[in-house]
Amino acid sequence: MTVQRDLFASNRAWAKTITTNDPDFFQKLSRQQRPEYLWIGCADSRVPANEIVGLLPGELFVHRNVANVVVHTDLNCLSVIQYAVEVLGIDQIIVTGHYGCGGVIAALEQRPLGLIDNWLRHIQDIHRRHEPLFVPLPDGAARANLLCELNVIEQVANVCQTTMVRDAWERGRPLTVRGWIYGLADGLLQDLAMQVTRGDDPNVIYRQAVAAAQLRNGC
Ligand code: CO
Repeated sequence: MTVQRDLFASNRAWAKTITTNDPDFFQKLSRQQRPEYLWIGCADSRVPANEIVGLLPGELFVHRNVANVVVHTDLNCLSVIQYAVEVLGIDQIIVTGHYGCGGVIAALEQRPLGLIDNWLRHIQDIHRRHEPLFVPLPDGAARANLLCELNVIEQVANVCQTTMVRDAWERGRPLTVRGWIYGLADGLLQDLAMQVTRGDDPNVIYRQAVAAAQLRNGC
């Protein structure tokens, strides 16, 4: 009960701060949402989507799961993408990973954690696909950094392969999918040069982004 009381008090203070600046804020927002971006990120408590990019409620459509994975059979994630693109008309999708991602590290170390091991298999597949790149790296931290970056690049590629994104491009929509990574230690976002828009060849950009990650990580 104590926890609940504190959170409600905190919520009232937050709502008051917003309405002090804009008395009609919630009234306007309750009528419709027009977010410009779909954010696909990690569920990690240290990577709060809106705060990181300084956006208010209503400005960011968000899907988060462990290790920001986009799986072609995940109806949850696919529904979010479909609703964002086809109903809300969003034309900017951002996949944001982060360094020090517990899901990525667990996948790398093959540490058994229970049910979630099945989810993290997707990241182990990415590791296996790029295994030679990891060989020259000096330690676990360096390997984790590389896998966190490669995971973002692969998930952007997965978003690009969804029927919703391909259909949008076929219809001439200027939809862009991009990959960023967030630093827990400095609070900064970094562009991973994995940005695909209509007319681009996703495979070419994918190869360039992987090459850039190799260069950045010294492998
Ligand atoms: Co994470």
